[in-house]
Amino acid sequence: MLLSVAAVFIGSQMCRSCHVGIYDAYAQTAMAKSSGRVESVPPAEFNAAGHRYKIANNRLFFDGGSAAMDYFIGSNAAGRSYVRSHEGHLFELPVTWYEQKQKWDASPGYEKEATIHLTRAIEPSCLQCHSSRVRPVLGTQNRFGEPPFLENGVSCERCHGPGSEHVKDPAAAKMVNPAKLEPARRDAVCSQCHLTGEARIEKAGRKISDYKPGELLSDYASYFVSAIGRRDLKVTSHVEKLAASECKMASGDVLWCGTCHEPHTGADRSQQACLGCHEKAHNKTERCAGCHMPRKQVVDAGHGVMTDHSIHLRRKAQAAPAQSSITAFLGTADDRSLGLAYAELGDQRAREHLLRASPQDWQVQLRLAVLEPDAAKAALLYESVLKQNPYATAALVNLGTHLAKQGRTAEAGRLWQRALAANPGLEEAVLNLSLIRTAKEAQALLRRYLELNPVSQKARMRLAEVSSN
Ligand code: HEC
Ligand code: HEC
Ligand code: HEC
Ligand code: HEC
Ligand code: HEC
Ligand code: HEC
Ligand code: HEC
Repeated sequence: MLLSVAAVFIGSQMCRSCHVGIYDAYAQTAMAKSSGRVESVPPAEFNAAGHRYKIANNRLFFDGGSAAMDYFIGSNAAGRSYVRSHEGHLFELPVTWYEQKQKWDASPGYEKEATIHLTRAIEPSCLQCHSSRVRPVLGTQNRFGEPPFLENGVSCERCHGPGSEHVKDPAAAKMVNPAKLEPARRDAVCSQCHLTGEARIEKAGRKISDYKPGELLSDYASYFVSAIGRRDLKVTSHVEKLAASECKMASGDVLWCGTCHEPHTGADRSQQACLGCHEKAHNKTERCAGCHMPRKQVVDAGHGVMTDHSIHLRRKAQAAPAQSSITAFLGTADDRSLGLAYAELGDQRAREHLLRASPQDWQVQLRLAVLEPDAAKAALLYESVLKQNPYATAALVNLGTHLAKQGRTAEAGRLWQRALAANPGLEEAVLNLSLIRTAKEAQALLRRYLELNPVSQKARMRLAEVSSN
């Protein structure tokens, strides 16, 4: 039998000639506009998390320096975060525009930072949900091609699969139509981006970024949610919340995201949907969602407000505050995925599961190394991690530190150098290296790092030290 390569991604532009109506409508949606290169950011001056900022000429100025605003993430339905490119490595900026509040403020997660944080790496997963045909550079943590993604926002092929064959012969090579898939595969199309749960853990040797429409998401990852349901709302909790609703539990597979959301226009068809199932409902002339799907503040996105998809009755008592154990929402709760999930959540139970995990791959070993009290044992684990993934930055930095303590500084230096090639924002690696280099080399290294992170007190102090010797 003759073999040929499978269809490849070709870009939404290629669909326009035949599906012009859908294309033009979709281009106006929040999903289509969820990321892009910055064109012009209006000038502004403001305070955020106790720091003074100014925006001018697409740059963010602060006490001690400034940073370019190169790319944006977020259509601005709720808000927009900004990303800078430093020698091809992407970093999230510490301030975000909150559209609903009409103000600049600290980016989610930066609210309580005492210093201005400029080195938070943008990893591929972030762009994978907000843009399409992402181009991560192999062997790095946050370096991307130029441009970092070939398409702004969510492209047609993210829901329909690669289109190269279909474009050549539309009748023969059909695209995936989510609505025609069996329920688990259909729901996976939206869940690839709208589900994170408490933790999502990739299966050994698999990457969510390789998922294609038509496949099962549970073949790529296990998703954990709190066992007793969560009361608070998160940015990506729509799938879990809907699953917990009486409507979904009682009606099963017929109810899915597409029941209420028209994917190409973003139109809200929830009213028809409610009435379709609740013919005898009260308040028929009013918007059901207005009372039964209230908008609430989310816990993980600064000032974001989102719709509660659990369609609950107010008179029903809500579950107690969520914590304790987690269960698999998708995928399996085997020791490996449970251990990695608990480790991500900082839960004590991680170690017992990790020790029993199979396979003991580099992700497991990396977590075990961090939890390992015996330095020599931890070092062996780090070495094993690096054999499987030569660019695991935490292993590079920590193994380097272990070797340096034993006087093996040349080896340590090489590891730290590799860590910095993967991500030049790793301050620990910079400071460590500056200790074992000549004064001149250390100065060059620290100056280069201060261009990326001009507000680093530690790097400034070290530079003063090496310069005075
Ligand atoms: C050359 C014209 C042409 C181009 C270009 C084209 N399509 Fe189509 N598409 C068609 C036609 C014709 C059909 C109907 C095929 C049939 O029913 O046999 C179709 C059907 C579809 C369907 C429905 C499949 C189903 O089973 O319900 C989807 C989804 C789709 N196209 C998506 C795309 C996407 C995404 C692109 C861009 C990557 C694209 N098309 C590019 C002509 C085209
Ligand atoms: C698992 C997929 C996923 C990941 C990873 C992810 N996001 Fe999102 N993000 C979403 C979804 C889905 C929404 C829309 C939620 C909604 O409207 O309720 C969203 C909303 C946003 C918004 C608000 C956009 C708007 O105007 O509605 C911003 C800003 C944002 N994300 C930034 C980021 C940044 C920055 C990262 C990485 C550091 C990131 N997100 C990682 C899926 C993701
Ligand atoms: C967010 C996911 C998503 C994106 C992005 C998306 N679609 Fe669709 N598309 C769907 C779903 C879901 C259906 C099935 C709709 C239904 O039957 O209710 C569909 C159906 C279709 C169909 C066949 C049925 C019809 O409505 O004619 C075509 C053709 C199509 N999409 C083309 C496109 C093109 C072209 C783009 C990009 C401009 C695109 N889609 C972007 C989810 C998406
Ligand atoms: C590749 C990732 C991705 C996929 C696949 C995806 N979404 Fe989204 N979706 C997003 C992101 C990111 C946002 C936030 C856009 C923004 O405001 O920046 C979003 C926003 C939305 C919104 C709110 C904005 C609006 O236009 O009303 C709805 C509703 C939505 N998605 C539904 C769906 C449905 C239904 C599916 C599956 C058919 C789906 N999404 C598939 C990433 C995705
Ligand atoms: C696919 C069918 C379907 C759709 C669509 C649907 N529901 Fe339901 N819903 C049900 C079923 C089945 C039940 C459980 C039996 C009952 O109470 O009728 C239910 C239960 C409810 C309940 C009682 C919840 C509880 O905790 O006891 C409310 C309130 C409700 N639905 C409101 C809505 C609203 C509002 C919408 C639209 C936003 C909606 N439903 C959409 C099928 C649906
Ligand atoms: C029973 C109807 C219904 C179903 C099913 C449903 N939604 Fe929604 N969704 C709504 C309503 C109503 C809104 C609010 C729309 C508005 O205010 O314009 C909304 C809003 C959203 C938004 C915009 C941000 C927010 O939270 O306000 C996203 C994203 C979203 N839904 C994703 C999904 C996903 C993903 C699924 C499938 C897991 C889904 N929805 C299933 C009714 C539904
Ligand atoms: C003005 C607010 C409001 C509107 C609009 C509204 N509801 Fe309700 N609904 C309520 C309240 C209040 C209850 C009583 C239960 C509770 O929440 O404690 C209720 C109860 C229900 C129940 C459960 C009935 C029972 O006793 O088991 C269903 C089903 C329901 N609503 C569906 C709908 C549908 C469908 C629509 C839209 C056509 C709608 N509601 C519009 C406020 C509203």
